[in-house]
Amino acid sequence: MKNLPICLFLITIAILSQGCKKRYSNQRPDLSIFERIAHERTDDDRMEDFIDSLLLRMTLKEKIGQMTQLNEAFFGLEAGSEDAVGTGVQAAAIDREKLASTIQKYQVGSLLTGGARSAREWQNICYQIQEVNLANSSNRIPVIIGIDHIHGTNYLRDGTIFPHQLNIGATFDKIHANSMGRFTAREAASIGHHWNFAPVLGIGQKKNWPRLYETFGEDTYLAQEMGSAYIIGLQEEVVGGYRMAACAKHFIGYSIPNTGWDRTNADIGDQKLYEFLAPPFQVAINSGVKTVMANSGSINGIPVHGSYYYLTTILRDEMGFEGVLISDYEDIIKLNTQHKVTEHEKESTYMAIMAGIDVSMTPTTTNFCEYLRELVEEKRIPEERLDLSVKRILRLKYSLGLFDNPFPTDRYLDQVASPAAAEAARNAAAESIVLLRNEYKTLPLSNPSRLTIIGSNADSRMALCGGWTYSWQGDDEQLYPDSILTVYQALTAEFENTRITLSDKAHLRYYAGISDAVIVVTGEKPYAEGWGNIDDMRLPPEEMELIEIAVGTGKPVILILLEGRPRIIGDLFDQCHAVIFAGLPGMFGGEVLAGILSGRIYPSGKMSITYPYQSGHMISYNYGPMVFSGLNAYREDFKGYALGDFGTGLSYTNYTYSDLVLSDSVILAEEKLDVSVNVQNVGQREGKEAVLWFIRDEVGTWQRPDRQLKYFEKQFLLPGETKSFNFSIDPEIHLSYSDENGDPILEKGYYTILVGDLSARFYLNTD
Ligand code: BGC
Repeated sequence: MKNLPICLFLITIAILSQGCKKRYSNQRPDLSIFERIAHERTDDDRMEDFIDSLLLRMTLKEKIGQMTQLNEAFFGLEAGSEDAVGTGVQAAAIDREKLASTIQKYQVGSLLTGGARSAREWQNICYQIQEVNLANSSNRIPVIIGIDHIHGTNYLRDGTIFPHQLNIGATFDKIHANSMGRFTAREAASIGHHWNFAPVLGIGQKKNWPRLYETFGEDTYLAQEMGSAYIIGLQEEVVGGYRMAACAKHFIGYSIPNTGWDRTNADIGDQKLYEFLAPPFQVAINSGVKTVMANSGSINGIPVHGSYYYLTTILRDEMGFEGVLISDYEDIIKLNTQHKVTEHEKESTYMAIMAGIDVSMTPTTTNFCEYLRELVEEKRIPEERLDLSVKRILRLKYSLGLFDNPFPTDRYLDQVASPAAAEAARNAAAESIVLLRNEYKTLPLSNPSRLTIIGSNADSRMALCGGWTYSWQGDDEQLYPDSILTVYQALTAEFENTRITLSDKAHLRYYAGISDAVIVVTGEKPYAEGWGNIDDMRLPPEEMELIEIAVGTGKPVILILLEGRPRIIGDLFDQCHAVIFAGLPGMFGGEVLAGILSGRIYPSGKMSITYPYQSGHMISYNYGPMVFSGLNAYREDFKGYALGDFGTGLSYTNYTYSDLVLSDSVILAEEKLDVSVNVQNVGQREGKEAVLWFIRDEVGTWQRPDRQLKYFEKQFLLPGETKSFNFSIDPEIHLSYSDENGDPILEKGYYTILVGDLSARFYLNTD
């Protein structure tokens, strides 16, 4: 059984080389045919020729080097910055000798970077790295530089910081995912970064998972649409002759660990995997994503990094991924140190390579190079297996344009922090803020004479941006530029004629007493990955106490939640006049929150996750019917399970939905059903409404979710204006679902379409 992967690889290689023999036969064709072939040769053919001839010249060491990614400390930043990735250390120069000797010794093809630096510093570093690399790489293969610019250029001190993905999901407008990708590429590529480890395509259904904010939310369709818009935006931009590669991560099942703690096991049945977890990756692959990163955790007790089934059978054979598969940080090593499925790192290396990993993000050691060489020399891993990976890596470099344009140039520095990028990030932030509650029309505030603001996030820049900002954990306030306005600072600028007091707990009652309203800005401090594991979903007691004191004063309380996941506030929600879920809106978060409080900006975000009401409410909107209409329906004390259900959010105007029209009430599998609805802005103010179309499959072989998002569209509406929203239902796409083998099932029967507060049934006839 253990040798099955080897056999399969050898068969694959045999088939591939057969193909090659046919295509590049040595027989001399007559000239006319030759000319015709030359004429018909595509860019891909030219690339393949280039790569084949390069591969022939490469030694085993070079091949292994291409499959290795070391971190920048290895490439020798200044003394004192050995652990520069993630620490925010801002070294600007590299140790050229150290870098040269690393390249000479290992012919390393890839580098992982991080930490806060200015555009000039980054550009200088990347230029030097490439210069030293090319001088020492035997075949002058450009090094590819990877980084986690996961919400805008978050490792660029003068870059544009977008909201995190959870917020982008809440905009329900793909334009924001697309512009985040586009501007990230413009800024990052201009300074010499090539490979961006984004987007996260796991679905955020574990509310305590510390990486929830890195997802587009809890819904599969939302993640797939936002993810592909981001990938297209990022990969389409060309800066100085080369472009950036996106990385769909973390394949697969990483986002729903049973415990909610990072990198732990997830029990996932195959039907769930195929229906809910695979589609965002499948759409990413269809959209041309160049790279994928593997899940550091395990599924059903099988660590994904060592799994041929997940990484080759599903990812490549079934889903058709042809690009580069990179391991996560030290995750090959963790097969023995953490997962304990091998006894030695060398066996882990064997397991991961045979499972299908192309590049090892080894960062801090070169053991991978040594072990892989030994494994090839011992003939346990055929060199042809390495060739498959090396070809993918060279194709990646070639297709990004790195062979022709390996260096960043000064000419593109004006791409960094352009007014257009700022506008895109500001708009994304504005549309990502969700107004959950607004009793007595508390918001917008009309000419308050005095306001009190309090809470641990009231005067914090880092609270707006969260983890992965200027440092891995994002929690070093000193690294944040003064130009980022905190909520307090932004309110002071927004409400010029209002006296605004930043209070502490001791003075809260006094200042609240003389204010028109109290604004409590709370939530979480930044964190990233396992460092954000928590024991309790509730908001910390000291923050709860502030809300209680504020509420106790009898003054209207406006609660603003800046956090990466929904911390439980329970009944306090009902006691605040207004509640805003702001998530992690990025560098313009303070400004847009102030604008929403003043009414300059109208809120239009809708929840991309279900915000639990009490700590027992760990459910997502698309659970099976039993959760919603089963026993819970009979509980008299059941006040609801969510402060904000998925897809809900208020604005400063109201909309009515009417005239839900279906083109038919019975359709056949090969027919389309056109549905339309009119949405009218019936309030006094303009607004943007995201119209969300859900479908309920009334009876299914597999238990069907209560409802599933199938389409969304957001439009601007003036007061009084009515717009028609349309959705064309294609049964093959919108009504079918995957079984446990990943095969689509399309079942006859009744379906309900739900939009706003309207719904209608139709029948699918598959006979
Ligand atoms: C994270 C990845 C990230 C990588 C490189 C890992 O710890 O899980 O998402 O891309 O580090 O920084």
